[in-house]
Amino acid sequence: MTHQAVRVGSLTLKNPVLTASGTFGYGLEFAPFFDIEDLGGICTKGLSLAPRPGNPPPRICETPAGMLNAIGLANVGVEAFCTEKLPLLRERGVTVIANIFASSIDDFVTLANRLDREPGIHAIELNVSCPNVKTGGIEFGRDPHLSGEVTAAVRAATRLPLWVKMSPEAADLAAVARACQDAGADALTAINTIRGMAIDPERMCVRLANRTGGLSGPAIRPIALRIVWDLVGLVDIPVIAIGGIATAADALQFLLAGAHAVQVGTASFSDPVAPLTVAQGIRAFCEHRGLSIDDLIGRARTSATS
Ligand SMILES: Cc1cc2nc3c(=O)[nH]c(=O)nc-3n(C[C@H](O)[C@H](O)[C@H](O)COP(=O)(O)O)c2cc1C
Repeated sequence: MTHQAVRVGSLTLKNPVLTASGTFGYGLEFAPFFDIEDLGGICTKGLSLAPRPGNPPPRICETPAGMLNAIGLANVGVEAFCTEKLPLLRERGVTVIANIFASSIDDFVTLANRLDREPGIHAIELNVSCPNVKTGGIEFGRDPHLSGEVTAAVRAATRLPLWVKMSPEAADLAAVARACQDAGADALTAINTIRGMAIDPERMCVRLANRTGGLSGPAIRPIALRIVWDLVGLVDIPVIAIGGIATAADALQFLLAGAHAVQVGTASFSDPVAPLTVAQGIRAFCEHRGLSIDDLIGRARTSATS
């Protein structure tokens, strides 16, 4: 059996497949379907200081090869997560990445401080790239200065590994990525959704109450792959890939581009077992060729085209 563990900075994951924030609840919802602790990790729904109801419905709609969502970061709040969800995840031995969201740097720091004290959290993922909220979302992730500032402030507030999630909508993503690296990020995750919209011609109205929503799913995979490739060439810290990954073949593209791990998102909506199937498929690919995960990471960067 080939070795599937990967290192993302100081953190070792059992295998390179995690779930993407907001598409896998708090993990426990999927425990009836498979052993969630067999995944490389679970990124929680974005946690805020106070519980949030999110945007009014309709909040999701299907699109060709994907979906639009404008959930608006509905979540139970960090306190309920720590007391009601985390103990169960800890008991199961799940690798937990807490995805956090706030509309001010101070609130990001308070959140990071709160999570730092909790056993069972393995890393923090900073969501500075949500397109579906009025304040504190994408405007942090679009601006290199603000991204660096929030990363530095959270870095100082926790000893946990710190991942920062990139927005594909930043005008100068290279500057944002470098600013986060310089401010002490341990890894970059990419990408968050891309804003889009849909209109129902029969009813002659917009489909989402928020009008716009974040596009996800296979439709964004080539964009995500291009961004991940560029980021890997740009920064020295590991990059974790997200965007339209539904199969092992999809995930392999990102590993071959140089990502150290991948996150499966929208695919879990149609197939709750998708993240595990992706992990098993990568293992089978490695075993068939006698390769380790490390042999795969970045391999397409040096190979000739097929
Ligand atoms: C319904 C839904 C909710 C999401 N909520 C969050 C969130 O709370 N925090 C976050 O960082 N990303 C959130 N995302 C973005 C995903 O984590 C991921 O970056 C994006 O969907 C692209 O991956 P995919 O194409 O595999 O879904 C959400 C995506 C969807 C579809």
